[in-house]
Amino acid sequence: MTAVAVRDSWATRAGFILAAVGSAVGLGNMWRFSYLASEGGGATFVLLYLLFVATVGVPVLTSEFVIGRLTQASPAVAVPRLGGAAWKPIAWMFVFCGFGILSYYGVIAGWTLRYAVDAARGAMGDDAAAYFGRVSSGGPAIAAQVAVMVLTIAIVARGVKSGLERTNLLLMPLLFLILVGLVVWAATLSDAGSGYATYLRPDLRELMNPRIWGLAAGQAFFSLSLGMGAMMTYASYLRSQENLAREAATIALTDTAIGFSAGLVIFPVIFHFGLQDQIAESTVGALFISLPAGLSQLGRVGDVATTAFFVMLFFAALTSAISLLEVVVAALVDAAGWSRRGAAVGAGVVITVLGAPAALDTNRLGAADQVVGNFLLLVGGFFICILVGYRLLPQADAELSRGLTHAGARRAWAMFVRYVAPALLLVVMYTSLGATWQAVRTLIGLG
Ligand code: TRP
Repeated sequence: MTAVAVRDSWATRAGFILAAVGSAVGLGNMWRFSYLASEGGGATFVLLYLLFVATVGVPVLTSEFVIGRLTQASPAVAVPRLGGAAWKPIAWMFVFCGFGILSYYGVIAGWTLRYAVDAARGAMGDDAAAYFGRVSSGGPAIAAQVAVMVLTIAIVARGVKSGLERTNLLLMPLLFLILVGLVVWAATLSDAGSGYATYLRPDLRELMNPRIWGLAAGQAFFSLSLGMGAMMTYASYLRSQENLAREAATIALTDTAIGFSAGLVIFPVIFHFGLQDQIAESTVGALFISLPAGLSQLGRVGDVATTAFFVMLFFAALTSAISLLEVVVAALVDAAGWSRRGAAVGAGVVITVLGAPAALDTNRLGAADQVVGNFLLLVGGFFICILVGYRLLPQADAELSRGLTHAGARRAWAMFVRYVAPALLLVVMYTSLGATWQAVRTLIGLG
């Protein structure tokens, strides 16, 4: 008789929460958020983003938790089990998104690693734009991407408790500390006030711009790691019966607070050094060029701040990359019977190779981000709402009632999952169709 392998799980509740926060807090909060906020009218974008987090993000996050916790299996197994065979394509779309997002995410995570190391060594030189040009594509980008991927694979291969949980328990508190330090420091810069103002004072005329709606909704999903089963997978490693509604609220609040705080660093720096134009010009490179360009004018203090910032960004990126690979690995382990180690190495290598075009061409990178990192997540979120809202409501209600004892609150939650969130998602999917189609053409080389 062979013993049935016991499925790995979190050792502690804090381990689960920090891992989920670690997944959520990433390049999305800092790099993607700051460039989209400057593209999308600053505070208007921020406002819509917050609105989507509350009305769509939290209901979908809770739904993902419910599915994971109920089935204790990877989404690749869980979704067809709950919905029937017709749902298989959705489950594999999640896995596809894991491949797709991590392939370019690893490239940008590589930039942060190189920046952190070079800033610490004082090797970035005076011209931040030239430095970015040198390291953001081609050989140097691929080398750094490979380094990040090797690290990610090694951590995921070690498993939930000793790989994922340990890494997050160590890195997330460090990240919080660095961030608090940076926020305090940024407040002392002259002109910090104008930075805060652009960031925080919405231009209400922009509020009706459908493009900003699409960007803000996509960002809410990306930042919370929603729509592709990452949070589902993490919840599937919960043994104890946690209060899922409370955990979802905690995680959404923490992620938003951290993204918001990153803005409190980035915008004062931009205004202090008068870098507004640079940010508006370069999209994916905004953070990577403007921040070092400004900070290098401050001598030693600037070097320390730059190093701290990119070390923090690297930690954030790594803990998110782990969660992306984990979705793919869990699917291969649970649905195809692979060993964890084999799955981590096999999938990791394929993802690294897939990322090469992004490392060679930042246009492709932006296009992939629009298709997989924005549009497909919204599609995934829509189907998650349908599955939970129309097939699983009694089970979900029972699951939630353990923590959310107020029946009215659970009814309100069900209304959001059944009507509000899917309706909003249909609207923003519709408004993103044009940009998504254009990005697909870029990806397949049609221009
Ligand atoms: N949320 C992460 C960030 O903000 C990225 C990420 C990790 C992600 N896992 C995900 C995005 C799953 C979408 C789906 O950087």
